[in-house]
Amino acid sequence: MQTSVTVSAPGKLLLLGDHAVVHTRPCLVTSVSQRMKVKVSLLDSPHFELQAVDVGINGYKKPMTDLGKNKIPKGAKFVEIAVRNFNSHYLLKRGVLVETSSEFSSNFGFGSSSASTVCIIKALSELLEIHLTKKELFDLAYKTVLDIQGVGSGFDIASAIYGGTLYFVGGGSVIEPIRVSNVPLVVGYSGQKGDTAVLVKMVVAQMKENPALYETLFDASTQYVEEGKRALVSGDFESFGRMMNKNEELLYAYGVETPKLASMIHAARSAGAYGAKLSGAGGGDCMIAVVSPEKREAVAKAIEKSGGQVIPVETNISGVMVK
Ligand code: MEV
Repeated sequence: MQTSVTVSAPGKLLLLGDHAVVHTRPCLVTSVSQRMKVKVSLLDSPHFELQAVDVGINGYKKPMTDLGKNKIPKGAKFVEIAVRNFNSHYLLKRGVLVETSSEFSSNFGFGSSSASTVCIIKALSELLEIHLTKKELFDLAYKTVLDIQGVGSGFDIASAIYGGTLYFVGGGSVIEPIRVSNVPLVVGYSGQKGDTAVLVKMVVAQMKENPALYETLFDASTQYVEEGKRALVSGDFESFGRMMNKNEELLYAYGVETPKLASMIHAARSAGAYGAKLSGAGGGDCMIAVVSPEKREAVAKAIEKSGGQVIPVETNISGVMVK
C-alpha cells in the first residue's frame, strides 16, 4: 500500500453570477494556472500533523481522536475538518501528515481553502484505494466548507475538482463543463482582503429584508450568466464583457464593491477592456477584465496605475490531479 501521495488543484476566478449563486442561481467559473499542492502521508502514530507554512502553520499536531475539537487555528481549519470528514466516512485507522504549499497567496481570493480541501480528500481516497466519483468528492468537500463557513455555493470546490470553465448552479445541482479554449483575462489584485463568509451573510441579511428586490436582482444575474455562457461558447468576448459590466452593477447594488475595486474596474474599461468586474465576494480581493490581445498591455498598465497589482494567470486549467 502506498503511504504518501501528492495532489494538486487549481485556483479559480468567478466570471459571472457572484452571490446570486449562493441563492441557487447559476454562475460561470474558470480555473487558473496557479495551483495548491498537498502532500499527504499516512503515519504509524495516531496523530494528525500539519505543515502549512504559507498560512503560518508550522508543526501543528493533535491526536486523531481530537480532530475538529478544541480551538483550531484559522490556517488549519479546512485541512483538519476535511480529514475529520473523510475519516468519519472511511475509517483511516492511521495518523496523517499533511504538507501544503501554494503557488498563489491566500489573500487573492483564488480559493486556496477549497482547493486544499479537495486535494486532501482526493489524496486520502488515493491512499486508501477508494474510488470516489467527481460528484462524491464534491459532496464531501462541499460538506467540509459548509461545516466551517455555514454558507457558500460550492462553485469553488467544483472548479478545483473539474477544472476548465464551468456553468455551475448553487449547491452543485448542475455542474456543466463549458467548451472554451481560454478566457482572455487580465487580473488585478486590490491589496485588500475581503471576508467571504461575512459578505455572503451580509447579502443574505439584505435579501431577507427585501426579498422582492433581491429576487429581481438575482433574476438579472441569471440572465447575464445565460447570455454570458452563450457568448463564451461562441468566443464572443465583446458580448461577454458587456455581461460582466452589467453584473458589476448588481455587485454595486449588493454593496460589495469597494472604491479601490471600482477605480481599477473603471481604469480597465477606459483602457479598452471589453468588460470588467470584481470577482468573488467583493470587499477586496481581485477584479477581472476581459480583453482583446491588442488591449491587454494597456489594460494591465491602467490597472497598475490605479493601484492594483496585475497577476499573470492562464485560465481554463485542469482540475485536481495526482502527481
Ligand atoms: C465568493 O468567492 C463567491 C460568492 O458567490 C460565494 C459563493 O458562491 O460561495 C460570493
